[in-house]
Amino acid sequence: MKTVLAIFLATSVMFGAKVVEVDERFQKSQSCKACHLRIVKEWDESWHAKSHYESDEYFRATIDYVSRKTRKSLNGVKVECAACHNPRISVTSTDMNYEIMAVMELDKGSKVNQALSSDTLNEGINCIVCHNIDKIHADKDASIRGIHRVEWSKSGIMTGPYNDASSPYHKVEHRDFMSNNSEQLCFVCHANDKSVEGLVFTDMQSEYQKDKKSCVDCHMGEVQLGAAASLKIDKGKVKEREIRGHGFSGAHSAGMWEDALELSLLQQGDEIVITISNPQPHNIPSGFGSRELILDLSYKKGLSELENSSISLTRHYTSKRDKPTIPHLALSSTKDMSIPANGTKILKVPTVKGATFVDVKLSFRLVNDEVKSILNLKEAIWSEKFFIVSTSLKLK
Ligand code: HEC
Ligand code: HEC
Ligand code: HEC
Ligand code: HEC
Ligand code: HEC
Repeated sequence: MKTVLAIFLATSVMFGAKVVEVDERFQKSQSCKACHLRIVKEWDESWHAKSHYESDEYFRATIDYVSRKTRKSLNGVKVECAACHNPRISVTSTDMNYEIMAVMELDKGSKVNQALSSDTLNEGINCIVCHNIDKIHADKDASIRGIHRVEWSKSGIMTGPYNDASSPYHKVEHRDFMSNNSEQLCFVCHANDKSVEGLVFTDMQSEYQKDKKSCVDCHMGEVQLGAAASLKIDKGKVKEREIRGHGFSGAHSAGMWEDALELSLLQQGDEIVITISNPQPHNIPSGFGSRELILDLSYKKGLSELENSSISLTRHYTSKRDKPTIPHLALSSTKDMSIPANGTKILKVPTVKGATFVDVKLSFRLVNDEVKSILNLKEAIWSEKFFIVSTSLKLK
């Protein structure tokens, strides 16, 4: 018991992120609609808006499973994950006292429970997560992320990309991490995601090979001319500006997957050499631990299929009890099978006797079968195969 207590105390000192309360007029995206309707609608469709226990089945099942396996209270785990998934939470760590109260069911009405039931958290990563950040401590240790890596502005200040904006509803301030240095904003959370055993299963920041484009070019779309606000602030008209989208399309959108990777085939004797190239500046898959690429091969003679096979490129995780587990509880994992940023992966498979053609199709799944069955995920999206690219080769 003593060591557990010491660890809890140490974490709360190290990670005592400062909470700044947000005035009710700015808490929810609803309050931005009057002047930023387009943006609110786009964001509402994004997975940033779904980052909450109630809105993402995979997230919820992972929290439940971590709580059960580590015997930490459900709310204790929720607070830990909130560091990146629900950063405007008003409690940033829980201690041993809370754990004891939770076991005895004496935690009703506690600060922790109140914080978690606040309905602003339902919006996940919403406007005042990104636009109310004052400073990002990019120099802090790589393991310090989310809420622990930022300082909030006063309530009512919106930090943004422009240095000449003004609004009657809120104050505005320009920040570099909202314009030409926006990777820094993304890396507050999209980096160094690790298990309870300290295994880092995703680190987009260290694999990132910046090219010409930055995160926002691909995930918020190219810069366009349009209005940032629908209020007529420019001599009776809306002000024309350089703007971007707020869709943050990514792994859950079929459209983004098409041609995300390239595929080429070559025959060498009785082997087929498959080269998968990744033109993106981060690994694919990346972002989360149990994503999967699937290669489906179909060997044909004329139009009829002689044989088919499937290759899975994913990672498997092992717990400290040496059992298959989910990324968040892993002590170790198998080799990273992702395609490196701006790089390639080469696989060799045998040809099939009598085959004159081979068709190869590459797809992506959000979660591999192992983790899907451990967590008993039910929604169709977790089994869906997103098409990336296909090609065929005439065999000699
Ligand atoms: C994950 C972080 C993030 C979230 C969440 C977010 N924004 Fe933004 N927003 C940005 C970034 C980054 C830019 C600057 C993009 C650029 O121009 O490079 C931006 C730009 C803007 C702009 C300037 C005009 C434009 O479209 O570029 C407005 C206004 C804005 N956001 C409002 C909102 C509102 C309202 C919400 C909530 C519905 C919201 N944002 C949610 C990151 C975010
Ligand atoms: C009454 C209208 C109104 C409401 C409501 C409103 N805004 Fe704005 N906002 C504006 C105007 C006007 C601008 C300046 C636009 C320009 O200069 O092109 C602006 C600019 C911004 C910018 C860009 C600031 C910069 O310097 O780059 C952000 C970010 C922003 N608003 C976020 C929000 C958020 C988040 C909410 C909801 C909590 C919100 N706004 C509610 C009118 C409004
Ligand atoms: C406060 C933490 C935080 C910040 C800052 C943040 N993200 Fe995210 N982002 C997340 C989390 C958490 C998710 C996963 C939500 C879920 O799936 O429930 C996510 C998901 C995504 C996705 C995947 C969407 C999908 O459909 O799979 C993309 C793309 C993305 N973010 C891009 C960005 C970019 C670009 C920036 C910087 C402009 C950024 N994020 C800033 C936490 C953050
Ligand atoms: C040149 C375009 C490009 C740039 C730049 C880029 N991405 Fe991506 N990103 C993609 C593509 C393509 C995918 C794969 C298809 C998809 O997920 O929709 C992807 C996937 C993702 C995913 C989902 C990964 C998964 O497997 O769950 C996240 C999260 C993400 N990117 C965040 C970022 C962040 C943060 C940055 C900046 C550090 C960034 N991206 C820079 C193109 C880009
Ligand atoms: C360091 C910041 C950070 C922390 C802390 C964090 N996450 Fe995440 N998590 C992310 C980001 C960023 C993504 C989005 C990656 C992507 O979509 O590729 C994500 C995605 C996920 C996903 C995939 C969701 C989906 O819809 O595909 C699950 C599940 C998840 N996190 C569970 C958890 C749990 C449970 C905890 C707490 C034990 C937690 N995370 C703590 C940053 C974090």
